Amino acid sequence: MEVIILRDANEIGVMGADAVAALLGRKPTAVVGLATGSSPLAIYDELIRRCDRGQVSFRQARGFTLDEYVGLAADHPQRYRNVIDEAFVSKVDFAPGAVQGPDGLAADIPSACAEYEAVIRDAGGVDVQILGIGTDGHIAFNEPGSSLGSRTRIKTLTRQTRKDNARFFGGDVDGVPTHCLTQGLATILEARHLILVATGQSKAEAVHQLVEGPVSALWPATILQLHPHVTVLLDEAAARRLQLVDYYRETHCSKPEWQGI
Ligand code: F6R
Repeated sequence: MEVIILRDANEIGVMGADAVAALLGRKPTAVVGLATGSSPLAIYDELIRRCDRGQVSFRQARGFTLDEYVGLAADHPQRYRNVIDEAFVSKVDFAPGAVQGPDGLAADIPSACAEYEAVIRDAGGVDVQILGIGTDGHIAFNEPGSSLGSRTRIKTLTRQTRKDNARFFGGDVDGVPTHCLTQGLATILEARHLILVATGQSKAEAVHQLVEGPVSALWPATILQLHPHVTVLLDEAAARRLQLVDYYRETHCSKPEWQGI
């Protein structure tokens, strides 16, 4: 796991976008895994700018989102599918239908989850997966207690996650859906490169556990310690609780620039 501590979200955006652009440069048909939420926005904004300038293209690429609320109407602005379209997908040059997500309105949820797994697999798997992390250590919506071998399925959101996300529902915790469909931890682990972004002090404990804690279902993100290619992009505040922070800085400073992440 490579931990990189950067000055601010802009630097995170540039580094994350560099990795996605390099991938698309060598593999224009790449499969990109997209997280919703605030953390990846700096990367998406930088990719949108580069796409506008013709420096990167998603024309032949495909995308898969991580998760979706259950039961939000198709036109609800907080439905993750709409959020990611508004923030990113509609602003770059993905072909129509090239980005898919779990169907939170499916009548048969177990079948919809199994189909989602199959579609990702048939696309050749995810080349690069962008991730955020919850204050309780969730990735996608794999809340504490999630099976470390889980696949796409329905999950109950914790009170903490619903409180964290109430800001998108006019501050009303009860307006936040209670359930979601989420890629499982084992699903996420199959992506070839994972880039996790965390900013702000509220993420510091989760980041400490992710990087330095024991692998445990209590902090689901710790399962990433088992993946061979994970890059963690942090600002200073999110890095505040890291015990080996000096070592991570030194490692990054001594890395040749051409190596990328
Ligand atoms: C959303 C997702 C979640 C978020 C996490 C952090 O698709 O997968 O795991 O990444 O809740 O959210 P933000 O970035 O808004 O703090």
